[in-house]
Amino acid sequence: MSMSNLAALASATDAKANRLIHRLAFMNNFSDGQQDPEVAPLLPGYTFGQRLMSGLTPVERDGLLDFTIERPNGLDGWALLLTVRGRGLLLDRPGETVLREGDVLLVPPRAEHHYRRHDDSPSWWHRWVYFQPRQTWLPWLSWRGGGPRATLLRGQDDDFRHELDRIFSEIDAWSINADAFATEMSFNLLERAILICSRYNEKPVADYDPRLAGVCSYIAENIEKPLTLDVIADHARLSVSRLAHLFQDRYGCSVMAWRDDLRMQLACRILRMTDAPVKQVAIRVGYANPLHFSKMFRKRMGLSPSGYRQGESDVPAT
Ligand code: FCB
Repeated sequence: MSMSNLAALASATDAKANRLIHRLAFMNNFSDGQQDPEVAPLLPGYTFGQRLMSGLTPVERDGLLDFTIERPNGLDGWALLLTVRGRGLLLDRPGETVLREGDVLLVPPRAEHHYRRHDDSPSWWHRWVYFQPRQTWLPWLSWRGGGPRATLLRGQDDDFRHELDRIFSEIDAWSINADAFATEMSFNLLERAILICSRYNEKPVADYDPRLAGVCSYIAENIEKPLTLDVIADHARLSVSRLAHLFQDRYGCSVMAWRDDLRMQLACRILRMTDAPVKQVAIRVGYANPLHFSKMFRKRMGLSPSGYRQGESDVPAT
């Protein structure tokens, strides 16, 4: 990366952090912060409703954000954190873990996690993305040393760190854009960030199971067809019970739940990006009965397909 690009990158992060720090300096308590849309997600008790959200948390000694983020029950979705300045402290395991510049932390859903600024460091700035992954990302989210707890990825070179910082700030930039492509762009950028981390981590490669990858492609290519588990298992040359076991183990859900999620994610994209009637969307993603589709959609997204399209809620997006 050239020096001028590096400088531009550092200044994007610095500019955002300094702008936030300046605003935070005028806030006396959390309820002041809750009025500010950029600060509210950084405060305790915030509910992450959206499928993707990004931010920068510039913790400064004695500032409003200088507290321990305590999440004994974790979050509903995943979080990816990149320390960009100073040091933090991860407190969820015996013997604390110092988070240094360039360290990446991946926090799975419902994983207990607690962290704060390290006492010896005047600041701890970190960029983060909160997200509900696309189904196809799940294998890339199983990192070496990972499991039900937060996993640390460290020891990467400067290029890795700068690339991630750049991607995080681009995701941030898209998040203030309201057009239909903004969500696609953010998901596209996040997919790249996850791929980069996963590639450095290497575990997904070791874990790669071509039979399961084949199952996922087969389902995705035939998403509009009413495939049964028998047919899928047969295609993969596995018994139904073996497939169910392997899949659950690797993806943390059943084959059919994975397929239903994929259908809904696809439906969201079609609804957002086209004017196709809901009936057609239902058929395209595998529901011959539009009423059944609408019911499933509402169950998963909390609103009807047409409500989603009109952007009645800010829950959206896949
Ligand atoms: C913010 C925190 C940040 C990260 C995201 C998901 O409140 O400041 O560290 O945990 O939530």
